Amino acid sequence: MNLVRPEIDAMEDSPILEVWRSGVDKPGIIGLWAGEPDVPTPAFICEPAIAALRAGHTFYTHNRGIPPLRAAIARYLNRLYRVEIADGRIALTSAGMNAVEVLCQALLGAGSKAVAITPCWPNIVRAMTINGAEVTEVPLRRSNQGWSLDIDAVEAACVEGVKMLYLATPANPTGWTIGRGEAERLLEMTRARGIALFSDEVYHRILYDAPVAFSFLELARPDDNVFVVNSFSKSWAMTGWRLGWMVFPEYFMPTAEKLIQFNTSGAQAFLQYGAIAALDEGEAFVAEFVARCRDGRGIVSRRLARMKRVREISGEGSFYAMFEVEGVTDTLAFCKDLVQRAGVGLAPGIAFGKGAETLMRLCYAKSPENLEAAMDRLEAYLDETA
Ligand SMILES: Cc1ncc(COP(=O)(O)O)c(C=O)c1O
Repeated sequence: MNLVRPEIDAMEDSPILEVWRSGVDKPGIIGLWAGEPDVPTPAFICEPAIAALRAGHTFYTHNRGIPPLRAAIARYLNRLYRVEIADGRIALTSAGMNAVEVLCQALLGAGSKAVAITPCWPNIVRAMTINGAEVTEVPLRRSNQGWSLDIDAVEAACVEGVKMLYLATPANPTGWTIGRGEAERLLEMTRARGIALFSDEVYHRILYDAPVAFSFLELARPDDNVFVVNSFSKSWAMTGWRLGWMVFPEYFMPTAEKLIQFNTSGAQAFLQYGAIAALDEGEAFVAEFVARCRDGRGIVSRRLARMKRVREISGEGSFYAMFEVEGVTDTLAFCKDLVQRAGVGLAPGIAFGKGAETLMRLCYAKSPENLEAAMDRLEAYLDETA
């Protein structure tokens, strides 16, 4: 007998995983489907974690992260944004995903409503749904110039009963990045309507026209219902470490402590020493990594521009290219066929909700050789199937 809650049982798996499963074991596959770089975490971050492990930091520790790491997060945010964030507003989490879950658990619930600006990372809407919310997706506007926010549509969706507004800036998969004026307007609206503003800033350093993206922390007062999630995964090539953090209003600290306790009881103690090094000593690595992404972006854009049936729609941040192929409406079928016949793994747009239905996402945080080879294969596949 299947005892799983019916709503969980009925929940669709991520279409990205479906494509991944269909090709992960295929010899020679070039997988550009997942959102992660192909460089390992640099030694200056690994070494302090190894030393901490050797020194016996192997016990239960603070739910909100070890105090020196929380202090490093505050220092880092101060350096980047000139903001003073009190220690009581910071919690380390078991990666960004755990922060997403904690916020959804705390702020949503059966019968609640949430609004998500899409296209967005599929796990967000799933976490909202698991936590009982009915989610309204408000798509970004798409034009030849790229993506833009339809603020009126967002305001119209934030009706009575909406508890949370989610956006990612820079966004996955579009790269769209919010401007200060738009952020001010959203903050005013959520303040007036008593809605939690959940800003997902995990790509805050992956930007091509500035060293750091605008943060809602630059606007929020300590008592504002602004919840900012960040992660070590993307900026410092630490996806497998599963470390992230969140900043929340002052009153939320006991809730964060409780829910972290009841979810994971805190992140691994010894890994947190590596995270301190990432924040305090990571600038050279971040610059180098973004330069590599910029090169990857250039390769992919140049090659896609030459393919007759392809149109790229790019954004100013994150490390993804999005493109559509003339005549392709079923992106899942396209991506699965591309895996089988060309040995290239992409993420189907259908995974990212409203606004991305006809697009493919490609992660270019990869070596130039792999990107060129993937582009060769894609080009040949498109010629063959024209
Ligand atoms: C927009 C966005 N938010 C949050 C996350 C969570 O990242 P992690 O759980 O690795 O910290 C991701 C990962 O892909 C993401 O793309």
